[in-house]
Amino acid sequence: MFMMVIKNATQLLTLDDNDSGIIENGSVCIKNSKITSIVSKLKISDRSAKIIDASGCIVLPSFVDCHTHLVFAGTRTNEFAMRLEGKSYKEILKAGGGILQTVSATRKATEKQLFNLAQQRINEIISWGTTTIEIKSGYGLDIDSELKILRVIKQLQLANKTKITIVPTFLGAHTVPSNRQKDEYIKEIITEMIPAVAKQNLAQFCDVFCENFVFNAQESKKILETAKKFGMIPKIHADEIESSGGAEIAGLVKAISAEHLLFPSDQGLKAMKKSNVTAVLLPGTTLFLKSKHIPPIDKMRKLGLTIALGSDYNPGTCMIYQMPIIIALGCLLYNMSLVEAIRGVTINSAKALGMDNQIGSIKVGKNADLLILDVSDYRQIPYQFGKNLIKTVIKNGNIVYSRN
Ligand code: NIG
Ligand code: FE
Repeated sequence: MFMMVIKNATQLLTLDDNDSGIIENGSVCIKNSKITSIVSKLKISDRSAKIIDASGCIVLPSFVDCHTHLVFAGTRTNEFAMRLEGKSYKEILKAGGGILQTVSATRKATEKQLFNLAQQRINEIISWGTTTIEIKSGYGLDIDSELKILRVIKQLQLANKTKITIVPTFLGAHTVPSNRQKDEYIKEIITEMIPAVAKQNLAQFCDVFCENFVFNAQESKKILETAKKFGMIPKIHADEIESSGGAEIAGLVKAISAEHLLFPSDQGLKAMKKSNVTAVLLPGTTLFLKSKHIPPIDKMRKLGLTIALGSDYNPGTCMIYQMPIIIALGCLLYNMSLVEAIRGVTINSAKALGMDNQIGSIKVGKNADLLILDVSDYRQIPYQFGKNLIKTVIKNGNIVYSRN
């Protein structure tokens, strides 16, 4: 039986029991792919074990990025520049730019081209410590192009399965494609796209961009309820740009998560709590869009909502995929505590994908998805957020990345 021991970490962050769960001089034992014990001063009897000395380092669960749009072609550099000149995200989208620009580039790209672009991104992402990632479709916006993107996600899943778990989400309702009537497009999503995605088993979740100027609350509800009937679990981009009733819909359809949440109503947050919906916050997007608003974190805390953090990695609103930067932004922009932010990208992000019983904390029986960082104090993570502190990435008990 293959055994590995990570020995004597200066700080081992288990993230158990709603806290950091720090163990000083902590060691983790792994058999095959699972964590088998966690101890504070280890005596090793099994000589066949591979021993990794983590003294002077911290060890924590590897990162889970529960919200990305990483299969796309082209760039949106022009829009970034337009925003610096004062144009808003909504103005750019309404003028036919935004998502529609990426849709046009992504439709033109072949499956192979999209795969290669995404694979390079994934290699980088692993080197920054993420070993579970959700990827949404949504830059196709017609049945063939959406299925093409979802097939690329499936190929990425297979090609990377020993290194990173990829979780697919169908986001056909990302915006209304040009030259289409909204009602007619919604009908196509409901009667053609969702059944095809379900039949080909290409997505676990279904997401909608719920905004008054994209798909409003009632339209979003209709789409998500249909997806549920076809076995997909709802997620929702809610109240990102304007208050649009998205949080209420998340509660109503019992979504697993609602994302962004800059402008949720109090009723909406209560509805989320009632249905145990995880709040996924995306501070990279707030920075990228130069938004002056932040989510109502205090209200979320008071209600006891689970708060996760994701990157939202996409060409329009956030090119940040490095979770240490997202941790820093959670702290610096959203006033989260450091432990809240770290839990946000691990155990709570795992919950937003329904995987918190397998990953996200260091616990006996969970998958050995772990990071060793080249610092002895976890507070260094946001303090040095531009530097890649990752020394070793372990996925299911195997080293999948190590620096030098
Ligand atoms: O989460 N808001 C909708 N979707 C993405 C942006 C996608 C894009 O602009 O290309 C988001 O911010
Ligand atoms: Fe998004």
